[in-house]
Amino acid sequence: MDLTVAPGEFMTLLGPSGSGKTTTLNLIAGFIEPDAGTIDVGGAPIVGLPAHKRDIGVVFQQYLLFPHMKVGVNVAFPLRRRGVSKREAHRRAMDILEIVGLNDMADRYPRQLSGGQQQRVALARALVFNPKLLLLDEPLGALDKRLRESLQLEIRRIHRDLGVTFIFVTHDQEEALAMSDRIAVFSEGHIEQVGSGESLYHNPDTLFVAKFLGDSNVIEGSLRVDDGRTHIVDGDRRFLAPSATATDERMAIVVRPECVRLVSEAARTDDLNVMAGEVSEVTFFGHRRRVSIEAEGRTMLVDESGHGPAPKPGEKALVAWRPEDASLVGIGRRGR
Ligand SMILES: Nc1ncnc2c1ncn2[C@@H]1O[C@H](COP(=O)(O)OP(=O)(O)OP(=O)(O)O)[C@@H](O)[C@H]1O
Ligand SMILES: [Mg+2]
Repeated sequence: MDLTVAPGEFMTLLGPSGSGKTTTLNLIAGFIEPDAGTIDVGGAPIVGLPAHKRDIGVVFQQYLLFPHMKVGVNVAFPLRRRGVSKREAHRRAMDILEIVGLNDMADRYPRQLSGGQQQRVALARALVFNPKLLLLDEPLGALDKRLRESLQLEIRRIHRDLGVTFIFVTHDQEEALAMSDRIAVFSEGHIEQVGSGESLYHNPDTLFVAKFLGDSNVIEGSLRVDDGRTHIVDGDRRFLAPSATATDERMAIVVRPECVRLVSEAARTDDLNVMAGEVSEVTFFGHRRRVSIEAEGRTMLVDESGHGPAPKPGEKALVAWRPEDASLVGIGRRGR
């Protein structure tokens, strides 16, 4: 893999279990050494440097606080180990505890804090010595959904306030989209694509990225350009596609459920892809509803607003989407 993270950037490593996210963090932190290759921080090579000399803060899923030390002492610990005086270490610990919103808890023991508070202490401890780089390995994985969301906002705010470079690991796609400047999508030890959440979501390079980030309708076929219009042809069915930049012979149209609409016969035009089918399932999520349509041997997912009357299972339906709302993805030799 080859990855460059800009100074002050919030980079997220996203990928399924076992894809190499923690291994990558461990290589940067210095807990394992690479067999080959180089790692630079701020332009200087760090391979071979012991972990504690790398000036990199690390936060794990398990908070790993010292249970016998009060919160303030926990946070001051990295400074004391670096030879900072007790008084100065305490002052800086209190400053950083204020940033994470826990300055009134300095005299408690970790067991007297909630999970979210303990994770904020761990964050404070990792930031107290002004590291150039902070590595976070699924720091919110052990917390419930509500708490996770409020800490996501908090971590983003801290990142903005301090301007430190963050490399954040998660396998939660929504968390990655909500937090990151850029996301590197991992699969089986390599990086599939790096980009902003929006670019990965709207312009995935591979089927793996399209399927891992959000839900999608995928139509595979062969690429054909007729009269300047790009088509994907599957048997005797052809679909209008956005113009192709790649030209693999086998390609797939990827269209997000929110870009597909239920339409009436009158809405049919030459510029729309239209498929006829039958509603098979309707699921209500509050702000939206997901309608599944069995159409021409495929299941098409449609997301629409949760307001208004819902279609009923068994009803006939037409689904339509504009070719320019889809993306075209090459199906590589690896068959992904
Ligand atoms: N010390 C090791 N020796 C050999 N193989 C290892 C070692 N550590 C991890 N692996 C393997 O490397 C692969 C990547 O592991 P890694 O822990 O980086 O995954 P991950 O992306 O962090 O997954 P998760 O989301 O489950 O934490 C896995 O197949 C794992 O079994
Ligand atoms: Mg991991």
